[in-house]
Amino acid sequence: MEKSLQRSVLLVTLSLFFFSIPVSLSVPFVLFHGIAGECSNDEVSNLTKFLNNYSSSPGSCVEIGNGLVDSLYMPLTQQASIACEKIKQMPELSEGYNIVGLSQGNFVARGLIEFCDNAPLVFNYVSLGGPHAGLSDLSKFNCSVCELLDIYLSDVYNDFVQDHAAPSGCFKIPTDIKNYLEHSKYLPKLNNERPGEKNSTYKDRFTSLHNLVLIMFQGDIVVIPKEISWFGYYPEGASTPLLSPQKLYLEDWIGLKTLDAAGKVKFVSVPGEHLRMAQDEVVNYVVPYLKNHPT
Ligand SMILES: *[C@@H]1O[C@H](CO)[C@@H](O)[C@H](O)[C@H]1NC(C)=O
Ligand SMILES: *[C@@H]1O[C@H](CO)[C@@H](O)[C@H](O)[C@H]1NC(C)=O
Ligand SMILES: *[C@@H]1O[C@H](CO)[C@@H](O)[C@H](O)[C@H]1NC(C)=O
Ligand SMILES: *[C@@H]1O[C@H](CO)[C@@H](O)[C@H](O)[C@H]1NC(C)=O
Repeated sequence: MEKSLQRSVLLVTLSLFFFSIPVSLSVPFVLFHGIAGECSNDEVSNLTKFLNNYSSSPGSCVEIGNGLVDSLYMPLTQQASIACEKIKQMPELSEGYNIVGLSQGNFVARGLIEFCDNAPLVFNYVSLGGPHAGLSDLSKFNCSVCELLDIYLSDVYNDFVQDHAAPSGCFKIPTDIKNYLEHSKYLPKLNNERPGEKNSTYKDRFTSLHNLVLIMFQGDIVVIPKEISWFGYYPEGASTPLLSPQKLYLEDWIGLKTLDAAGKVKFVSVPGEHLRMAQDEVVNYVVPYLKNHPT
């Protein structure tokens, strides 16, 4: 009796041991959707499922607040802080995880990576059409469900607008850098851009990524100029954007240069419109970074 009990205890222990090996190697991912999206939306849930299928890794879309409406009107500072609290309450992420960001969701993702204290480590971060260096043209902002935002955004650096329109945190108007640096509440902090207010913790955290994949859409008419998805921007005073990242890179405000020098940044360009990727492009440029063994 006692022997067989001992044997079954041993068996249970052994099987726990063996079955726990694949589990511990399987790095989960989380996905953050863009403006006017939500996790339950067909495209977002299809992509999440597709990535699950092809990477064989568990992963889920993490919703901020109530989804669509909050993606329009909740300031990004608050969105990132909600993401931070949510991630810390997901025990399956405690050993580290990967992130996929869609469009504005990349600002939630980067806020999470840079600002979140005592958070689990992020290994790979794949950005699809992220407005990283700052949207440059208010007149081109066009979102079918955000009429109110169009009105708000006409005065993008206004305090009220900064507090009530999520995308106001994404704009950096090249002809109005002074107001941007003084009044924008999110992007200058995210890019460690304000002279005298750079925080090396943000840089250290971003630099600890194993891989940073920046996907640019050649036909993008939402993220304008498309080069900002690679951290490109307008050289001071010029009206033509540059693909090559500017001061942010050269002076290494957030560690992009360090990551690049270590071969950890993949600059990817795909032909489609904003967030339009063919199945094989998703398989080639996103899936490999979600597979079990982070490389
Ligand atoms: C995921 O895999 C299942 C089972 O193979 C399949 O039925 C489903 O269509 C796949 N979904 C996507 C989005 O690839
Ligand atoms: C805005 O986008 C819609 C489709 O989403 C398009 O029909 C409309 O022409 C666009 N408006 C402008 C001003 O670009
Ligand atoms: C930099 O950010 C970290 C993490 O949020 C914070 O603990 C620290 O106080 C900040 N340092 C400065 C000088 O603001
Ligand atoms: C789901 O996503 C895959 C990969 O991006 C794409 O090829 C497919 O057309 C999508 N299906 C739907 C129903 O959106």
